[in-house]
Amino acid sequence: MILIDGKKEAAKLREDLKQEVLGLKKKFNKVPGLTVILIGDMAPSQIYVRNKEKSANEVGLKSEVIKYPEAIEEKTVLEKIEELNKDQTVSGILVQLPLPKHIDKQKVIETIDPSKDVDGLHPMNVGNLSSGYQGSIPCTPLGCYLLIKKVEPNLTGKKAVMIGRSNLNGKAMAQLLLQEDCTVTITHSKTKNLKAECLAADIIVAAVGIKELVKGDWVKKDAIVIDVGINKTDKGLVGDVAFEEVSRVAKAITPVPGGVGPMTIACLLKNTIECFKRSN
Ligand code: GUN
Repeated sequence: MILIDGKKEAAKLREDLKQEVLGLKKKFNKVPGLTVILIGDMAPSQIYVRNKEKSANEVGLKSEVIKYPEAIEEKTVLEKIEELNKDQTVSGILVQLPLPKHIDKQKVIETIDPSKDVDGLHPMNVGNLSSGYQGSIPCTPLGCYLLIKKVEPNLTGKKAVMIGRSNLNGKAMAQLLLQEDCTVTITHSKTKNLKAECLAADIIVAAVGIKELVKGDWVKKDAIVIDVGINKTDKGLVGDVAFEEVSRVAKAITPVPGGVGPMTIACLLKNTIECFKRSN
């Protein structure tokens, strides 16, 4: 069994990105900049944003976090995004989700210039990905994809099952694997017999937020299992996959924590650098 070490892979990726930023600095006399907007004081978002900032600084990006209180008016946020769209020193803009209820997520996402949308959530980038055109790819699916390719460089004809259909994960992941000539199934809460779907899969990507949903007897021998879930329990953080049981059958599996999480952040930095390169 291969334990996919996301922490190690992310560190390698960050090292490569650091070298790339040094090269860009020499060539353009400036570095890519990432601006994160954080609204409210939800603890998980605060932690994510702090980690993003730390990693951005580590690879030499210019990084800025703009914090607003929970009650901030939508108009103020949209005006700030428009200002950042015009700011030449800002290569990438990320608005941390979830947003307070009074702020329209769609409006916020659509206000971000697609060429600075490091989350790949703007409809233009969603369309680019599904058309196979160039654009930003959501960070978590991109991280999962890179981990899968490490284990199995040739994915042609593999059966891949996504559990979860969110814009941020399941749908984008499905597009990436489709481009690799996988046969892709997207499952969700209304899917009948999820176990049977999983048992047919060569690759399972679980991103539903149900702790330890995927059991040992749901997984085919030699499957690759990628766990995007982060669920808080009394025993600490657990994923959407029952790790102990599944690791006894799978060919390769990502742990939680230390699997997909670190790759997500490294891919955000990668996306920021890609946006910079496309605009210079
Ligand atoms: N909240 C949790 N994950 C993400 C992400 O990938 N992007 C944004 N913007 N917010 C998130």
